[in-house]
Amino acid sequence: MAMKRAATSAIKSFASSRNSLSSTFTRDLHASPGSKKIVGVFYKANEYASLNPNFVGCVEGALGIREWLESQGHQYIVTDDKEGPDCELEKHIPDLHVLISTPFHPAYVTAERIKKAKNLQLLLTAGIGSDHIDLNAAAAAGLTVAEVTGSNVVSVAEDELMRILILVRNFLPGYHQASSGDWNVAAIAHRAYDLEGKTVGTVGAGRIGRLLLQRLKPFNCNLLYHDRLKMDPELEKQTGAKFEEDLDAMLPKCDIVVINTPLTDKTRGLFDKERIAKCKKGVLIVNNARGAIMDAQAVADACSSGHIAGYGGDVWYPQPAPKDHPWRYMPNQAMTPHISGTTIDAQLRYAAGVKDMLDRYFKGEEFPPQHYIVKEGKLASQYQ
Ligand SMILES: NC(=O)c1ccc[n+]([C@@H]2O[C@H](COP(=O)([O-])OP(=O)(O)OC[C@H]3O[C@@H](n4cnc5c(N)ncnc54)[C@H](O)[C@@H]3O)[C@@H](O)[C@H]2O)c1
Repeated sequence: MAMKRAATSAIKSFASSRNSLSSTFTRDLHASPGSKKIVGVFYKANEYASLNPNFVGCVEGALGIREWLESQGHQYIVTDDKEGPDCELEKHIPDLHVLISTPFHPAYVTAERIKKAKNLQLLLTAGIGSDHIDLNAAAAAGLTVAEVTGSNVVSVAEDELMRILILVRNFLPGYHQASSGDWNVAAIAHRAYDLEGKTVGTVGAGRIGRLLLQRLKPFNCNLLYHDRLKMDPELEKQTGAKFEEDLDAMLPKCDIVVINTPLTDKTRGLFDKERIAKCKKGVLIVNNARGAIMDAQAVADACSSGHIAGYGGDVWYPQPAPKDHPWRYMPNQAMTPHISGTTIDAQLRYAAGVKDMLDRYFKGEEFPPQHYIVKEGKLASQYQ
């Protein structure tokens, strides 16, 4: 595998003419034998850690790869302590070779951290979405960034369908009544609807967006999708979803909008005050993609004014969400911590994917091509 680390100033020529680079200018990722220092940053499970032997996505479970790594002579450090100059992660930045992090408890890999990480070669995301990494800085430093593409897409699509139903049926106030001893049918029924016949638009119809469209089909909705790429006609026919080239033309048609794009320079803040105003009054929005695709205050304001009738999702910025995050307090929200892609099934899949990539890294083999987010100084196409 020809993954390199190169000098920042020369990255442009590095990307365009990498095959002709001399070995004095770059350093082979796999060539050096011997022990590697691998650091994993995961959420801590405390008293929940021992409740399920397959709970591998937490600090205690450590992706289930500790024995395997240590038996090969590698050092494996796992922590949840990721913020601030004195955190555990910071102590290991200067000499780690591989950093594994997850979107659920993201280790923010800034340009400053990358600069300090002189031995770093590989950044692996246990899950999908590597926006917690400064991808341009990683590319400029010649690092490889890879994620376990596809590992939790079913988990997220199922969760989105659940959140759509929770919002459409106005489920949460009823649940709160049930637990608090109340009984007031009218307080729920005056804004509860069927999903059938509603127009649902997904912004982004990649792996998750398509799975959601397939799952929505039996509900007899009108399905729309906006993406930078049109779907294969066969899949379009199968889902019955219509392509909308212009996002701003799709939004006013939708009763429900679901966000399914990655967080990139093009999607950061995509849903600001002006774009939210283009949505139908009373729109429901589900966002399990990334919090920073939305202008957080604009969403909270539109929920308060009633322009957004309900907002649900599991992604925030930053994570963990601060206690005063406006989405915690806005009306008609169906928010949770970042959980949709970390079901036990998903954990087993992304743990296996990380192990496979580490194994390939040790052996000097290529990763499955769809896993690369940054390779040889170049960002994957949707991040460019
Ligand atoms: N909440 C969770 O637990 C969780 C889990 C997995 C993924 N995610 C998020 O969901 C995102 C999507 O995952 P996926 O597996 O479907 O990815 P994917 O790469 O298969 O699909 C992304 C789609 O978005 C489209 N897209 C990208 N930029 C766009 C733009 N500017 N305008 C319009 N369309 C654009 C792409 O063309 C692609 O079809 C991830 O990047 C991640 O941020 C969240």
